[in-house]
This record gives sequence, structure tokens and C-alpha cells, in this order.
Amino acid sequence: MHDAPTTVFGGTGFLGRAIVRELVEAGRPVRIAARRPELPDWREPGDRVEAVACDLRDEQQVASALKESSAVINAVSLYVEQPRAGLSFEEIHIIGAGRLARLAREAGVTRLIHISGIGTRDASPSAYVRARAAGESAVIDALPKAVILRPSVLFGPGDAFLAALMRLARLPIMPLFGRGETRLQPVHVADVARATTCLSDTRPLERRLFEFGGPEVLQYRQVIEQVLAHLECRRPLLPVPFPVWHLLATLLAPLPSPPLTRDQVILMQQDTIVSEGVGTFDDLGIVPRTLHDSLPTCLAAR
Ligand SMILES: NC(=O)c1ccc[n+]([C@@H]2O[C@H](COP(=O)([O-])OP(=O)(O)OC[C@H]3O[C@@H](n4cnc5c(N)ncnc54)[C@H](OP(=O)(O)O)[C@@H]3O)[C@@H](O)[C@H]2O)c1
Repeated sequence: MHDAPTTVFGGTGFLGRAIVRELVEAGRPVRIAARRPELPDWREPGDRVEAVACDLRDEQQVASALKESSAVINAVSLYVEQPRAGLSFEEIHIIGAGRLARLAREAGVTRLIHISGIGTRDASPSAYVRARAAGESAVIDALPKAVILRPSVLFGPGDAFLAALMRLARLPIMPLFGRGETRLQPVHVADVARATTCLSDTRPLERRLFEFGGPEVLQYRQVIEQVLAHLECRRPLLPVPFPVWHLLATLLAPLPSPPLTRDQVILMQQDTIVSEGVGTFDDLGIVPRTLHDSLPTCLAAR
């Protein structure tokens, strides 16, 4: 029985919400920390879940959110920089992630799980990917026993991935990133949440780096074909060269919330599949579900 809460930074986000649910269903007390904290609407009397306001950029707020936590999960995201709001990849993914790890160590937290992403590497043309790599290093420097989780692209009810494909499916043709041959390993958000919950326990771990992908490696065009087949909708698939996508991303960049960014295009140019030699679902005895079997529930929610 855990009495000290597990604090989920970013516990109101897509993955964070699923982690909170999994923890609560496991009977664990949970503290949600976000700038706009919100309690889940599914909570029931007796569920031990609280929510606190916290900006990862604020030292005092982070320290206060960490108080008496047994475990901490960082599921904070920033996909598009917002310079006017002071939100940069460096501020959130490197400085903020490092701050959380340092304050967690000072607070005596026994387990910190840092959520990153598959494909994270120092030498990437994407500023986002480079920041994620530097963020992982900042976390390990501050708290060497931290656990790094890198999920592949997430799907589930209310996700951004299938939502974008659904929007594209309204066009008379489906544009592909390049020839649509980039390999992805889409993974259900609930499977990653279950893995995160397992790893946030206090039992000793043999591994500290995990990558989570679904059971199938699919080319981008195969993902689209599955979605179109499920929707019973026929669309010609149109290969669009990557330089055209880069041009489009550059034109959209001045928008406050661009629907496509240069970093997303770069990410679509590289395979995002589980590497060799890392921890996986197998180590945790979790059998992840397929995209195909999940499409009815994921798309019914829209
Ligand atoms: N979605 C995917 O397909 C995917 C794939 C691989 C890896 N990941 C990783 O999984 C993690 C979670 O991603 P997500 O898609 O679930 O993100 P999300 O839905 O955008 O949620 C982001 C969460 O972070 C909080 N947040 C943002 N800025 C904050 C700040 N300055 N201080 C405190 N909290 C802040 C948000 O709440 P407030 O706005 O109220 O603060 C929200 O709770 C990220 O590390 C992401 O890179 C996601």
C-alpha cells in the first residue's frame, strides 16, 4: 500500500491523464501537477487524487508539488515553441526537466520517470529532438537513478495522431510524407500508461531506459490504409516530396498554433521504432494492443 502520492507533472495531458487513471485504478494516491490543474471527471468517492497548480519553470512551485511524493512522473510536453509566452524547448525539455530531477533528488523521491520519445538523439536536424536528448542527459546528471521512457507515436481515444489523419481523410486525396515509407510503431496510450505505472513502483530495476512501441511496425502509408479501410472511404494516396512539406511548414510557422512544424516534418523523415538493447513491454509482461484492433474504439470517440 502506497500512502505518499505519486506526482504526475503534466497529469492533465493525453498521456498524463492515462497514467493518472492507471495509478488510481491500481489504488495509488496521485497528485496531478499542471499550470491549469484539473481533477479527472471519472473519479469516484474514495479515489485518492488531488491537483495542484505548478509551472515547470517555477522552482518554488515544483518544490512544493514534489513535497512528500514517493514517485514522480514527468509527462510535460511542448511541441511548438511560443517565444512570447517564454516557452522554449530549452526552458521546458532541458532546464525544466533537469530542475524537476534535481528537486526530486533533494526531496528524497525514490523513483523519477522522465517521459521522452523514440528517436531522441543529439545529432538531429530537429531542435525539438536535440532538446529531448539534452533533457534526458540533464535528468540523468541530476538524478542518475532516473528512468527514461521513450514511447513511439501514441494513439488512443482523443489522440492527436489519428485526429490529424481523420482531418486529412476529408480531402479528395491523401497526401503522403514522401512516399509514405517511413516506419512507425504506433502504441496505445493505455499500454504506455500501464508500463509507466509498473515502473513507478519502488521495486529495484535492472534497466533504466525503455522504449515502447506497438506490436506492429507499419509504414506511414499502411497506417493511412488501415484508417481509410476502417472509415470505408477510398482515397488516392499522393506522394509529396519532403522539400514541399518543409516549405509548407516554413509558410505556416508564423501562425500562433501552426498545424504543421518543421520538427514534425523532420520526425516523419526518420523511422520511429524500438531500438535494440533497451527495455521494452516484454520486460514488464505487457502485451500491447494493435492499432487495427483499437481503431473502432479510438475513432468512435470522435
Ligand atoms: N503524444 C504522443 O504521440 C507522444 C509520443 C511520444 C512521446 N510523447 C511524450 O509524452 C509526454 C506527454 O505528451 P502528451 O502528448 O501527453 O502532451 P500533452 O497532451 O500536450 O500534455 C501536456 C501536459 O503538460 C502540461 N504542461 C505543459 N507545459 C507545462 C509547464 N510549463 N509546466 C507544467 N505543466 C505543463 C500540460 O498542462 P498545462 O498546459 O495545464 O500546464 C499537460 O498536462 C511528452 O514528453 C511527449 O513528448 C508523446
